[in-house]
Amino acid sequence: MNPLLKLTGLSKSFGGVRALVDVSFDLCPDEVHALVGENGAGKSTLVKMITGAHQPDAGTIEFFRTDGGRARSAARKRSGDCGDLSAARAVS
Ligand SMILES: Nc1ncnc2c1ncn2[C@@H]1O[C@H](COP(=O)(O)OP(=O)(O)O)[C@@H](O)[C@H]1O
Ligand SMILES: [Mg+2]
Repeated sequence: MNPLLKLTGLSKSFGGVRALVDVSFDLCPDEVHALVGENGAGKSTLVKMITGAHQPDAGTIEFFRTDGGRARSAARKRSGDCGDLSAARAVS
């Protein structure tokens, strides 16, 4: 099944801290995932990049329409037809 969200090779550092290194992930329709990790693992950083609060140092974030077309190719262009990401706002 075609993904709704495709993360490819995401990396993010804060100064000398490598918060995320080469993260790739596909989210397909009707899938439910839990983002699990110890404190400092990079969960919030990942969600903040998906929602556009942080820009990745490397990699791409793609959202796809349910008809398979690409809605946008970067998180900073995410407003509009991406659906409800409100849960992400609760992540701190
Ligand atoms: N704005 C920031 N400035 C500097 N370091 C940060 C910042 N945000 C996160 N970090 C660092 O990135 C790493 C991942 O943090 P974070 O994504 O908050 O992890 P989690 O949400 O899994 O606890 C940690 O080492 C954290 O200290
Ligand atoms: Mg967190």
